[in-house]
Amino acid sequence: MLPIIIANWKMNLNVAASAVLAKNLAKKLKRISGREVALCPSFSALYAVGEILKRSRLKLGVQDLFWENVGAYTGEESPKFLRQLGCCYAIVGHSERRQNFKETDGQVRQKIKSALANDLTPILCVGETFSERQEGRTDSIIMNQVIQALAGVDLIPSEHLVIAYEPVWVIGSGQAIEPSEAENAFKIIRQSLIDLWPLTIVKNNVRIIYGGSIDATNVKDFTTLDYFAGFLVGGASLDENEFVKIIESC
Ligand code: PGA
Repeated sequence: MLPIIIANWKMNLNVAASAVLAKNLAKKLKRISGREVALCPSFSALYAVGEILKRSRLKLGVQDLFWENVGAYTGEESPKFLRQLGCCYAIVGHSERRQNFKETDGQVRQKIKSALANDLTPILCVGETFSERQEGRTDSIIMNQVIQALAGVDLIPSEHLVIAYEPVWVIGSGQAIEPSEAENAFKIIRQSLIDLWPLTIVKNNVRIIYGGSIDATNVKDFTTLDYFAGFLVGGASLDENEFVKIIESC
C-alpha cells in the first residue's frame, strides 16, 4: 500500500476558497506517484472539490458521516450519498468530534461499519488527551479506542482502513510529538489490530498514519519510523506550498 497524505481542511474554507486550493493542488500534483493524496473539505464544498478532483489523481474525503443511509435524520449526512458524490475516504472519530460533539466509541464503530458497507475507506482517529498522557494512560487509551471502534468489524480483503494516531494535545499546537512516541503508538495500534484480525489483513489492508502539527519542517522526522504509512494534516494543508512539500517528503 502506498503512503497516504490526507488534508483535513476542517471548517476553514468556503466553497470558493476550497475550489481554488483543490485546483492548485491538482495542478501541482499532476504527476504525483508513489503516494496517495486525499482532500477533505467541509460538506458545503464537497461537490465543487469533487468535480475538480475527477480530473486528477487526488481523492475526495469527508470529515464525518452518519451511520444510516437514508431516513429522518435532520442535519446528518448519508454515507451512501457521500459515496455517490465521489468520496473515497471518511474521517471518523476525530478528537474535535469526540470532544465538542460528545461522539462515543459506539457511534464511531457504527460510522466505521457504515462507511465500509458503502465502499468508503474510514480514517479512524485515535489519541490521548493531555491529562490522560499525564496520568500515564496513553497506551491503554489508544488500545481501547482501537478495540472499541473495531469490535465486531471484520475487515475483508477488498476493504481498507486508515488509522490516524493524533495526540489530542498536539493538534493545532504548532509542535509535533517526539517521533519515538509516535512510533510507540503505531506499534500499540498494530498490536491491537493483530489481536483482532489475521496478520495478512493488518499488513495489506491497514495503514497507520500520524497527525498533529505536521509541517514541512518536521515531516522528515516521521517518514522513517517503523509502520509509518502517512499523515493527516490540518493547518499545514491549507497552504498549498507547505502541503506539497509534505507530500514530496513522504
Ligand atoms: P493539525 O491538525 O495538523 O493542524 O495539528 C491535524 C488534525 O486535526 O487532523
